[in-house]
Amino acid sequence: MKSETRSNSISTLDNVEAIRMIDKENMGRMISSFPSLLKEAVTLSRGLALPRDYRNVKEIIVCGMGGSAIGGDLFKDLSQSITPLRVSVIRDYDLPNHVDGNSLVVAVSYSGNTEETLEAFKQAYERGSRMVAVASNGLLEKACSKLKIPFLGVPSGYTPRSALPLLFIPLLKIAEEIGFPVVGEGELAEAHRLVEEYNHGLTPENPLSRNPAKQLAARLHEKLPIIYSMGHLKSVALRYKDQINENAKMRAMCDQLPEANHNEVEAWEKIDFKELLHVVFIDSRFKNPYLAESINQLVSTIEKEGVGLSMVKPLGETMLEEMLSAIILGDWVSYYLAILRGVDPAPVRLISELKMKHDEKTRYFEKFEEWLYKSG
Ligand code: F6R
Repeated sequence: MKSETRSNSISTLDNVEAIRMIDKENMGRMISSFPSLLKEAVTLSRGLALPRDYRNVKEIIVCGMGGSAIGGDLFKDLSQSITPLRVSVIRDYDLPNHVDGNSLVVAVSYSGNTEETLEAFKQAYERGSRMVAVASNGLLEKACSKLKIPFLGVPSGYTPRSALPLLFIPLLKIAEEIGFPVVGEGELAEAHRLVEEYNHGLTPENPLSRNPAKQLAARLHEKLPIIYSMGHLKSVALRYKDQINENAKMRAMCDQLPEANHNEVEAWEKIDFKELLHVVFIDSRFKNPYLAESINQLVSTIEKEGVGLSMVKPLGETMLEEMLSAIILGDWVSYYLAILRGVDPAPVRLISELKMKHDEKTRYFEKFEEWLYKSG
């Protein structure tokens, strides 16, 4: 079935009733829950205790897909700026060769029923890796119970992408459990306060004239967003792209600096359809000083071409605060883009259909259950 989109006028963003009609499954409520989910995730994570021998691992491998993987990227970006812990994020069926008994594999799947994550989990078990999993339900929970693997259950009822705090914060606790504290509870509480306050100003009730999320969405409406970031905010640029894809059902691109200045920059010459592009830079106060110059160069190249450009200056005094404040802004931007396009932000019809058709062909879940029956 072909889906139709209808472009709404910018003034729709201040029509709370119209927004409610478009957002049939109440994604607005889920995005607004971000700050309270952060708090809930901290409380939940306190209950996660790992065996003492997990402290000897050489690395953490986070396995997940889509909305369940991005928390791994945030964790990687943050922890590698602060601790010597080695972190990789695997969005695939197969684990890298080096993963062995000295690796800690963390399987994250909000539904607990994602084929790639289950397969990576199975491989980790067969290689004798230390393991832990985070899910709301599904085969992942069942497998952890059967195989006696530490498991953190998180509340269901959200879309995986809006459950991000529930999937990201436990990774910080896991790192702490194995002897690599990344951020303490005091810093998390500060970040929560900041995000909670910022969120108020981004909700539909707050008018366009005072709402930075509506303003950015208005600039991106009917454009192809090209999002750049750097350092610990690289994963945030990817989050913007993914949220725009899934909530607004719209194409978006992201890239990172300084790498973009070594390849992607060439695409800023002889630009086709330049009036259809809009660039978003997610800046950071923590960037390497050399990077500031790389940004200046790229910005002036883009401005010379007359392409629209917006700067996002995340709030906060810490890397964590920058990440979380930039994310809540971007989540609302993707939501308002959906409203402007007249599309219901929550359902992801194509993702669900692809998963279903895939399983009809592979019968993966049956095979996983058979494996589980014989294991442990
Ligand atoms: C996000 C979303 C997808 C899923 C992905 C993996 O809202 O719908 O990106 O996160 O398909 O599924 P889970 O998270 O259940 O493992």
